Formats: sequence, C-alpha cells, structure tokens
Amino acid sequence: MVEIEMEGVGKSFGGTVVFRDFSAHLQPGGVTAVRGANGSGKSTLLRLAAKLLSPDTGKVVARDREAGLVLEKAEFRSRLAMVTPELRFYPRLTAWENMDFLLGLRGEKLSGDSYSKLLERVGLSEKKMNGVQAGGLSTGMRQRLKLAVLLASQAEVWLLDEPGANLDLEGRSLVLREARQAADSGVLVLLATNDEREEAAADECISLGGN
Ligand SMILES: Nc1ncnc2c1ncn2[C@@H]1O[C@H](COP(=O)(O)OP(=O)(O)O)[C@@H](O)[C@H]1O
Ligand SMILES: [Mg+2]
Repeated sequence: MVEIEMEGVGKSFGGTVVFRDFSAHLQPGGVTAVRGANGSGKSTLLRLAAKLLSPDTGKVVARDREAGLVLEKAEFRSRLAMVTPELRFYPRLTAWENMDFLLGLRGEKLSGDSYSKLLERVGLSEKKMNGVQAGGLSTGMRQRLKLAVLLASQAEVWLLDEPGANLDLEGRSLVLREARQAADSGVLVLLATNDEREEAAADECISLGGN
C-alpha cells in the first residue's frame, strides 16, 4: 500500500499563491475528497500528489507503507493512475485500440475477455462501441472509458480530477461505488470534486480556498 505525505507545501504560479504551508497525510484504504471553488487549487493539489509538479517549498513524499520505503518518482508513477479532464484519447483510434495502447504504456496487457468485462463494468455497450472511433463517442462515454482504463490499471493510488463531470446520475454512482471498492482493497483514492454526493461519500475532506 502507498501513502503520500505532503508537508509545508507552497506553490505559486507567477504572482498567484495557490498553496502556502499546506500539509496532508493521504492514507491508503480511504477516499479523500478535495473540494473548493474553481481555481482554488484542486487540480494543482492532484498534480503535486502525483509528482507531476514540484512544490516551491516543502515536500511531497510517497512511501510503500509495508516496506517503509520512500518511492522514487518512476516507481511511484508506475503505481498510480490519474483520471483528468486533460486526458485525451486518440480520436481516430477505437476504444479497444486506445485502451490497449494506454495499458501497454504501463506494461499491462488487455485481453478480449477483460476488455468486455471492463466495458460492462463501466456501463458501455461493447456492441455499440465496436469499430467506433473515440472521437465519435459522447463526452460521457469517453469519461466512462477513462474509468475503464483506471480499473484495468491495477494502480494503488487513484488521483481523480472531477471524475463525475459529464456523467449522468448512474455514472456518478458508478464512480463512487468503484472508489469505495478500491479503497476497501487498500487503494489510496484522492478525488477532486464539486459534487456534494462525492464529498459526502469520502472518508476525509480537504477544503481549499476557505470554503
Ligand atoms: N500551469 C499553470 N500556470 C499558471 N497558473 C496556473 C497553472 N496551473 C494552475 N494555475 C492557477 O492556479 C490556480 C489553481 O488552479 P487549479 O488547481 O486548476 O484549480 P481548480 O482545479 O480548483 O479549479 C488558478 O488560479 C490557476 O489559474
Ligand atoms: Mg481543476
């Protein structure tokens, strides 16, 4: 299991201070929601936690809890998965081709059988998806496909940036169900959200920007 410790983190962009002396201990086996208005720093917090961004001051440390070892960036990355609005599929490739490619980058194989099961799990009809390029899918369908990649990734850290955006009620319930199930199996789930249901379903909540 992986834990992330953020200590005294400061982060600014130009003159804009987003974090000043921010600390949090993110635990495996739990869902932590990050809430706050647009621009309050939710996505920045997830990028800092992923070590995609370096803090200006303070530190972000990821550890293997059982081994008590600090994880190097590459090792940590191989154990985390992100779902963000920035993630794009290749529009001219099919769902299968995109998934096969993205998982291949992680050194993971996608079998026809697990592809079918994953699509069913995220509520996508394999038949309807067959041969359709990702560019021809609705935003909600693409969001579900991102969740399928996440579920296939075997990651121990889930960083979800507004995962319920563009999803219908059933889709948002799916996100919560999967997040809970993952946390119960020891995954660290960090979820940026503006959705009250997602916030209420979390074990812990980090409020940014004073709201
Ligand atoms: N790469 C960047 N360059 C400049 N400013 C940034 C960058 N990333 C974020 N910011 C600024 O940091 C603040 C927090 O942004 P963000 O983390 O995206 O907020 P949220 O996800 O809560 O909407 C905003 O003022 C935003 O303009
Ligand atoms: Mg954001």
